[in-house]
Amino acid sequence: MREPCADGALGPQVALSLAASVSALAIEVRGLEKTYRTPFRRRKVEALRGVSFSVERGRVFGFLGPNGAGKTTTIRVLMGLIRPSAGSCRIMGHDLPSQVARSRVGFLPEQPYFYDYLTVSELLDLAGRLFGLDRATRRRRADELIAKVGLDRARSQSLKKYSKGMLQRAGLAQALMNDPDVVVLDEPTSGLDPVGRKEVRELILELRDAGKTVFFSSHILSDVETIADEIAIVARGQIQSQGTPRELVGQSLQGTEIVLRLAADAANSDAERSLAAPARAARRIADELTVTLAAEDDVDAYLALAHGLGAKVVSVVPRHETLEAVFLRQIAGADASGSAREGRV
Ligand SMILES: Nc1ncnc2c1ncn2[C@@H]1O[C@H](COP(=O)(O)OP(=O)(O)OP(=O)(O)O)[C@@H](O)[C@H]1O
Ligand SMILES: [Mg+2]
Repeated sequence: MREPCADGALGPQVALSLAASVSALAIEVRGLEKTYRTPFRRRKVEALRGVSFSVERGRVFGFLGPNGAGKTTTIRVLMGLIRPSAGSCRIMGHDLPSQVARSRVGFLPEQPYFYDYLTVSELLDLAGRLFGLDRATRRRRADELIAKVGLDRARSQSLKKYSKGMLQRAGLAQALMNDPDVVVLDEPTSGLDPVGRKEVRELILELRDAGKTVFFSSHILSDVETIADEIAIVARGQIQSQGTPRELVGQSLQGTEIVLRLAADAANSDAERSLAAPARAARRIADELTVTLAAEDDVDAYLALAHGLGAKVVSVVPRHETLEAVFLRQIAGADASGSAREGRV
């Protein structure tokens, strides 16, 4: 590092690079807009309409949205593959486009294309060369990554013979070849069977545990819900909401589910009817009665009633909206409010 300036202040370049290296944010996206123009049909598509979000370092960030929401467009801007119509992005504190930022990112595109006749070792070697790694490092990292993504037994086969799941794993290994700080994955689990999806999810969590930031897009709710620390829901080129899975679904309590063990001989008695009456729903299996109270009902008063009738409380679980319900509601809202996004150039 350079010496501080004589007056004790840091030189502007040093201060700038320090600011970049201490930024707690791995990705910052501000006011991103992208309008595609298709000259032949003289039409324009507003794919992104003011997208802003940020991703803290060391987190798994799920970018969730339906087909055509603008996920791939955002990722292509982040990777410097297309220029935005407006807005800016920073990766690890570096403004894009930046070679430094690019060198710290690993990328798995939505539909990776590989040269069919390569083996996975050759593919990774090529990726390592593009990042300027020396021969020994390339070999060591390729061996590590092939083992990590479970392609050891297929390492001498050409990629032509790989299944979709194997190709996806080869693509993931390629994305990690430069030991990136930030990993950007466009639909990493799409097209995979449940086992393949679980393996990709586990790999993402391993990367997070190793201190990396993972940004991935998906329209598969369960994948996002199970592994993302933070989620942004995108629809019609705009962020509809952002937060932890708990924040997104936890804001609206749907009701409370209470399981009671009835006192001996209380089944089908007046006691059971009294317990079922205030509930929105009630069902009994053997001596266990499960009731659902409405969100506005007084849970304490109900538990006191149950107690008074000799029932034992087995569990009390607040029920929140599911991520699926939040997602569908927000997409419907975006569709309803979405002005025509296609128009004449
Ligand atoms: N090169 C292009 N030229 C014109 N329009 C495009 C282009 N690429 C994307 N679009 C349009 O921009 C919008 C956003 O597309 P994008 O591929 O970013 O969505 P996505 O969220 O990744 O969807 P999917 O889940 O299907 O991958 C869509 O309306 C799409 O048709
Ligand atoms: Mg896409």
